[in-house]
Amino acid sequence: MNVLMIASEATPFAKTGGLADVIGGLPAALAARGEQVAVVIPDYRENFYPNPPAIAYRNLWIPIGPGFMTDLYQTTERGVTFYFVHCPPLFDRAGIYSSAGVAHPDNHLRFAVLSMAGLAVARYLFTPNIIHSHDWQAALAPVYLRDHFNADPTFIGVKTLLTIHNLGYQGIFPPEALSEIGLAPKLFNPDQLEFFGKLNLLKGGIAFSDAISTVSKGYAREIQTPEYGFGLEGLLRKRAPIYGVVNGVDYQEWSPEDDPFIARKYSVNDLSGKRLCKKALLTEYGFSTDLNRPLIGIVSRFASQKGFDLIAQIAPRLLEENISLAVLGSGDSDYEAMFRQLASAHPDKVGIRLGFDNPLGHRIEAGADMFLMPSRYEPCGLSQIYSLRYGTVPVVRATGGLDDTIDEDTGFKFRDYSGSALLEAVRSAIKVYRRKDDWTAMMQRGMRKDFSWSTAAAEYVALYQRLLAG
Ligand code: ADP
Ligand code: GLC
Repeated sequence: MNVLMIASEATPFAKTGGLADVIGGLPAALAARGEQVAVVIPDYRENFYPNPPAIAYRNLWIPIGPGFMTDLYQTTERGVTFYFVHCPPLFDRAGIYSSAGVAHPDNHLRFAVLSMAGLAVARYLFTPNIIHSHDWQAALAPVYLRDHFNADPTFIGVKTLLTIHNLGYQGIFPPEALSEIGLAPKLFNPDQLEFFGKLNLLKGGIAFSDAISTVSKGYAREIQTPEYGFGLEGLLRKRAPIYGVVNGVDYQEWSPEDDPFIARKYSVNDLSGKRLCKKALLTEYGFSTDLNRPLIGIVSRFASQKGFDLIAQIAPRLLEENISLAVLGSGDSDYEAMFRQLASAHPDKVGIRLGFDNPLGHRIEAGADMFLMPSRYEPCGLSQIYSLRYGTVPVVRATGGLDDTIDEDTGFKFRDYSGSALLEAVRSAIKVYRRKDDWTAMMQRGMRKDFSWSTAAAEYVALYQRLLAG
C-alpha cells in the first residue's frame, strides 16, 4: 500500500506539540511493516535537518491566491520519504503558526499551498492509494482532490482519511478567504465549509474525506457531543463512525534506558538512576535536594485545553502539601504569569522554565515522581504515555486519551473538572508515594506498558484496507 501523509509538523524537522511526534513515528512504523510511505510538510525557516535534503521537483507553480512558485525537497528518514515544500514568502519567517502570539494572517494561504503541494507530490512524485491528512492545516487536501482533481487519473480509486488531533483548532477565517484559496462560492454552505458565517477548513476536510479518525476512542466519542464538539458535533455525528486509534510512542526517543539527555540512565529492573535524575532536576530548578519530597513535573503547551486554571484555583492548598513542582511550558501569557507568580512566591516549591526545550522535557520526564495533566480535554496526550515509561506516575483528568491510556494500576485520575477533584487526586498520589513498595510497584507496572507504534500502525493499516475495499 502507498500512503501519502500531509501535515504541518513532524519530528525531527519541526515541532510544536504531539502532532509532530505522531508524524515522526507513525510513518516509520508503517514503513517497518513494509508499506510505502511519503510525508509532505512545509520547509519552515526553523526546520532542523539531520541530513541536508535534496531537490525533488523544481518550479512547481501553485495557483493559490497570487500564485506561488515552490520547490520540493526530499530526504529519507527510517524508510520514509519526507517532502518539504519550499516557498520562502510563506514559510521563511519567524514562527510556525504565529509570531509574538499572533497567528500569521495568511495561514489560509500557507496551508492551502501545503495541501495543494501534497496533491502535486501525488501527481508527480509518489502515487498513493491513501491520502492521509492531519488536522486543519492539511484538511484542504481532500477538498481540492474532490473539487479540482476528481477526474485526474492519479486519483482514481484513491481514498482519503482525515485524522483530527485536536478539534479546538479548526482553521477559521473570514469568508473572503474562500476565493483567495481558489474555492467556489457553492462550497460556502453549512454542510461543507461555512461555519457561522466564516470559512472553516477543518469542516471542509470532515465533509470531503472518505473517513475521519481521531487519536483515541474516548475522544472519538466525546467529539460527537456538544461538550467537546466545538460546534462540529452535528457534522461529526453525520459522518460517523469516527474511528479512534490511540497514538503510539517512539521508544527510540523516549526510554530511560537510552536517553542521551538525562543525568543517569535507568530501567524497570534497576531504578537507581532515577534518584540521580531526580536529584539533578531538583538542583536544576533550585529546589532543596530532599529526595523524599514528591516532585511533580509539567511539560506542556500553555493553552486553555491543558487545564492549568485548576492549579490556580487550588494553589494555596496544593502548596501546603510537602511537594515541589517543576514546570516547563510556553504559550498563553495568563498561564505563564500564573506559574511565574507562584514560583516567585514559593521558590522552593515551584519552578518555571518558559520556552520549548526538548532536552529539559526529557529531564523532567526522568526526574519527576509524578507527571500532572489536568486537561480540560485531551485528544490523546503523549506526555502521560512517556511518563509511564520513565516510571513517573501520571496524575490526569479522566478525559479523551488520558482516560484511555491511564488506569488505576498505573496512575491517578480525576473526573470532575474542578480544583478540588485535582487536589484529591494529588493527595491520593502523595499517600501512595509514602508507601514505598506500593509506589515502586505502580511505577514498574507503568514502565512495563507497551504503547509501541506497531500496534497503532496495524490499526491504521486495517482502516486503510477497509477504505480501499469499500
Ligand atoms: P499536545 O500535542 O496537545 O501539545 P501531547 O501530550 O500530545 O500534547 O504532546 C506534547 C509533546 O510536546 C510532548 O512530546 C511534549 O514533551 C512536548 N512539549 C510540549 N511543550 C513543550 C515544551 N515547552 N518544551 C519541550 N517539549 C514540549
Ligand atoms: C494534539 C492533541 C494531543 C495529541 C496530539 C497528537 O495536539 O492535543 O492530545 O496527543 O495532537 O495526536
